[in-house]
Amino acid sequence: MPAKVVVVGSLNMDLVTRASRLPRGGETLVGQSFATVPGGKGANQAVAAARLGADVAMIGCVGSDAYGAQLRDALLVEGIDCQAVNEVEGSSGVALIVVDDSSQNAIVIVAGSNGQLTPASLLAFDAVLQAAEVIVCQLEVPMDTVGYALKRARALGKTVIFNPAPASGPLPADWYAAIDYLIPNESEASALSGVPVDSLDAAKVAATHLLNAGAGKVIVTLGSQGALFADGQGFEHLPAPKVQAVDTTAAGDTFVGGFAAALANGQGEAEAIRFGQVAAALSVTRAGAQPSIPTLHDVQGFVRP
Ligand code: RIB
Repeated sequence: MPAKVVVVGSLNMDLVTRASRLPRGGETLVGQSFATVPGGKGANQAVAAARLGADVAMIGCVGSDAYGAQLRDALLVEGIDCQAVNEVEGSSGVALIVVDDSSQNAIVIVAGSNGQLTPASLLAFDAVLQAAEVIVCQLEVPMDTVGYALKRARALGKTVIFNPAPASGPLPADWYAAIDYLIPNESEASALSGVPVDSLDAAKVAATHLLNAGAGKVIVTLGSQGALFADGQGFEHLPAPKVQAVDTTAAGDTFVGGFAAALANGQGEAEAIRFGQVAAALSVTRAGAQPSIPTLHDVQGFVRP
């Protein structure tokens, strides 16, 4: 069966410590625990889409170190097609993560093999892109690769979801026309639009800016405040389910993967957003990136408090 959702993006090994609080500059803290957990925004979104009911293929690069095989295996056990996950010489991507007692995190990523995903490597796996219905990209692989993927996906007539994470500034102007669904969080919406997003009204201003730039539709994720959907006709604020947060790592990825799976399975936009929100809410009740991502069964069994 051809993959309905294809994710073009990163795979990282997350090196996760828990500490009572995040360290200040120059400070050494004694942590409470350490774990090595498969992550990376691309891989997390692929796992989310697979656990939440989609046929998924991943396009990415792992290193020739021990992490590379572990990262690939973590996708294979989810039934994800990894024919386009290449092994390249050198280190895999890693993310150094600290999670504090209030479930906030701080993350430093080192691209490693993710930096070797080139437009040429995507061209070699064009058949995988052709077999997709929905193509999902983020920003943890080189910019020229992301730009190529978005434009190729548009040329193939696919539904294009772009999660501009992590974003540090405006996007190339010619990317917007290739994007059906642009899904930034508050800080990414601020970086892209130049509008500080610190309220629902500010999110509306930022979303309007991004629609005017050419994005098809915009979903600004607002953490515990829910999500703002903007389609150029109006806005819809969708509140988030209330849960007790343990670790917010990969909550955004779970939302994006869940939204992509729901769209690929024929759900409407509002329904797909609510589905992604429930999945993301469940993910924050558990620790780690990929281990925290719920299954379709978990989401179907969730009762909104
Ligand atoms: O979005 C969460 C992810 O960001 C982590 O898994 C980490 O790898 C970083 O890429």
